[in-house]
Amino acid sequence: MKIMSVVGARPNFMKIAPLIRELSKYPDQFEHLLVHTGQHYDARMNQAFFEALEIPAPDVNLEVGSGSHAEQVGRTMICFERVVRDWRPDWIVVVGDVNATCACAITAKKEHVKLAHIEAGLRSFDLDMPEEINRMVTDRLADVLFTTDGMASDNLRKEGVPQSRIQLVGNIMIDTLLRNRERAAELDLNQVVRENLLDCGGAPGGSKPLPKLSAHDYAIVTLHRPSNVDDRGIFGSLLEFILTDCCRDMAVVWPLHPRTRKQMQVFGLWEKACATPGLLMLEPLGYHELLRLNMQARLMFTDSGGLQEECCVLGTPCLTLRDNTERPVTLEDFGGASVLVGHDIDQIRCQYNRRKNGQRVPCCPPLWDGRVAERIVAFFRDECGMGA
Ligand code: UD1
Repeated sequence: MKIMSVVGARPNFMKIAPLIRELSKYPDQFEHLLVHTGQHYDARMNQAFFEALEIPAPDVNLEVGSGSHAEQVGRTMICFERVVRDWRPDWIVVVGDVNATCACAITAKKEHVKLAHIEAGLRSFDLDMPEEINRMVTDRLADVLFTTDGMASDNLRKEGVPQSRIQLVGNIMIDTLLRNRERAAELDLNQVVRENLLDCGGAPGGSKPLPKLSAHDYAIVTLHRPSNVDDRGIFGSLLEFILTDCCRDMAVVWPLHPRTRKQMQVFGLWEKACATPGLLMLEPLGYHELLRLNMQARLMFTDSGGLQEECCVLGTPCLTLRDNTERPVTLEDFGGASVLVGHDIDQIRCQYNRRKNGQRVPCCPPLWDGRVAERIVAFFRDECGMGA
């Protein structure tokens, strides 16, 4: 069986690594081709993950790069169509909800190739999120939908997807977390910080003395969604809260996404952030480095879907800077570690005060057990009549 899998952006890499490793156990049954659309291209957003997670180099890189949504999706479809026509796979596997996922899903079906979607059925019901559109389109087209949890499967059934296409397998990203946990634990917290400090480029206060991190006494911030960082008012007030309330209580580590860094500079917020004692701005971190920080953080502020899930499994109290989530299983209401706080500062302050001295309560939803790739590959082995 010929399987072509697709990655494009950073959150895809930790989802594809376990699948490729599992497929490689059956070289007589599967021929595999890895296509990278090139949506993310900086070494720290890209190659670093291939090396750390031992993902083989992509067989093809479409090098589509950055651009508007239409530019990215359009360029991906044009380039991907050629690769599909050349290689004629039996199945195309896409993961997650980035532009690469949706562009390659559409192309797969137009080329009459069977489509599998890993991480299907997640819904925020918020069409202002580009990822929600990507999820809906991809799921509408997929021949098999691998879901992470029962709520995701329910969403699909409500949309009329026949049960025969839904495979509840669990969360493949947690395969990667469980496999890499011990290696991450060996890293030294302060060395991770020292080795990844961002160069403030001579901004006043850029050479301030560094606070030392102690276990369970620092917060992590990650922000990258356009809804949080593209509006000066929203981004400015979030930053102000972090620099005043949070930095007063504990050290704050903030690995900056390229979009966030750019917006901080455009909005004139850069100098103040560089000068604030207690704020440690870092380059985008590698997989093990961020996992290491997360394992002993007192608190996480994030708008990332993947981090909500990782905080759930690790038990890190998580303030999710969004009004909704496509991953409700990670919320406190369902036993998880995350609470939605949007970007209203009073609400954030209230939840922050409630949770800043909270306990870590790890929670592993059913089937988030490190064996998800095994279940997915068992499906494909059945498909080619090779099942156990
Ligand atoms: C994309 C995904 C988002 C995911 C995020 C993780 C979509 C619609 N969004 O958002 O779901 O959570 O990745 O990071 O697919 N840039 C660089 N170097 C890079 C990549 C990007 O500097 O390697 C900069 C460029 O200025 C680019 C901007 O970041 O325009 C945004 O990148 P893009 O891939 O368009 O979206 P993300 O915000 O990363």
